[in-house]
Amino acid sequence: MSLPASTVARKLLMAATGQLMIIFIILHVLGNSTIFYRTLNAYAAGLHALPLLLWIFRSVMLAAIMLHVFYGIQVTIENREAKPRTYAVQEYAASTFSSRNMIWTGTAIGSFLIYHLLHFTFQTIDPSTAAVTHPDAAGRPDVFAMVFAAFRRIGILLVYAAGLLAVWLHLSHGIQSSFQTWGLNGEKSFPYIKKGSRLAALILLLAYAAIPAAIVMGLLK
Ligand code: HEM
Repeated sequence: MSLPASTVARKLLMAATGQLMIIFIILHVLGNSTIFYRTLNAYAAGLHALPLLLWIFRSVMLAAIMLHVFYGIQVTIENREAKPRTYAVQEYAASTFSSRNMIWTGTAIGSFLIYHLLHFTFQTIDPSTAAVTHPDAAGRPDVFAMVFAAFRRIGILLVYAAGLLAVWLHLSHGIQSSFQTWGLNGEKSFPYIKKGSRLAALILLLAYAAIPAAIVMGLLK
């Protein structure tokens, strides 16, 4: 398979894969919020009851992440090699901290994701609370107890705080940038897209942070 070389095609691929990941991030926080209804274990068991669907989904996500990372690194290198006008669309956005540091917040998200998968998917970070080896009263993996135990530990809380901050910064710019790439960059509409993008990133940050916060504050027991 040959990968597209044109700047427009690469930007479109980055936007499409980024938006796919945003959809995952929205679905993931909705799924995780079942913890507030004490149905997280049932939700997790439900997901694992459909292994074929789960693995198709995982494969698509993995391919999307790899393409996004590959082109993200390539675009950054090219931009730094004194080619400031490589973007295919006209940008109205002034440079911000999050737009200037996409490569670094992306790297932080990648590192967080590796930790997170080892932690909650492969469950190797703290085997004493691993859900697969600790069933709940109904015999399902006790994901609730695993998540609960994790967020009682300061070191883990700091890793998640850093990961969520990186996601917030990356999405604050990434959402608006992906809409721009699809041509939604009109002088009138773009300021709304910019504000909407920042608001959506903030809502996602708060929604994710609500889980560790509720555990630390003793609201979830
Ligand atoms: C408070 C924050 C979060 C909590 C409590 C949480 C919880 C979980 C749990 C319990 C699982 C394992 C599900 C299972 O296999 O039963 C999981 C998997 C996963 N999480 Fe998170 N998550 C959080 C934040 C994030 C963020 C910010 C991202 C993305 C940047 C993310 C991406 C993933 C991915 C890719 C998986 C693997 C899904 C799979 O098994 O196919 N998570 N998460």
